[in-house]
Amino acid sequence: MADNSGAAAADVVTDQNEGGVDRRDFINIAAISAAGIGGLAVVYPLVSQMAPSADVLAESSTELDVSAIQPGQAIKAVFRKQPLFVRRLTAEEIQAANATPLGELRDAQTLAERTKEGHNDLLVTMGVCTHLGCVPLGAAEGENKGEFGGYFCPCHGSHYDTAGRIRKGPAPTNLEVPEYAFSPDGAKITVG
Ligand code: FES
Repeated sequence: MADNSGAAAADVVTDQNEGGVDRRDFINIAAISAAGIGGLAVVYPLVSQMAPSADVLAESSTELDVSAIQPGQAIKAVFRKQPLFVRRLTAEEIQAANATPLGELRDAQTLAERTKEGHNDLLVTMGVCTHLGCVPLGAAEGENKGEFGGYFCPCHGSHYDTAGRIRKGPAPTNLEVPEYAFSPDGAKITVG
């Protein structure tokens, strides 16, 4: 049986087109392209493995400088990919929260229970309505704070008071207060 492989190899070496690219060049280019695609396929799982796992994200914490937040101001931050509200209450807002009889509350909690001792003026809550998870208004300047001066969720009309407690509307519980701690000088908080 005749062996044609030598003739085929000769074709590869000698078959040259007008542009000066011979068939061997084409084969080399094709091989490099295939290697490039293979390389991508290898790199992707490595990158994928470098991304933080759900466990790591769940354990991550957020540090915030709260020293510049003036009474009546709030900031929106992000904690574990969810909105976080940090609000410096005015004396009137503290008074309003403390004057509310617990019997009037759907989810009875005092302002003191929802803040840290010595820092009752700093309210730290998730910015997630406890009804169906919308982001309430009231943290940014000029936003509707609802009938109780705290936060208002326009999705279905939940009103939260100055301590972030649910007062009216379908939300079943107060805005969640995450775990957090103050730095020794009180200028920062670490959430999570
Ligand atoms: Fe806020 Fe429904 S999600 S009231």
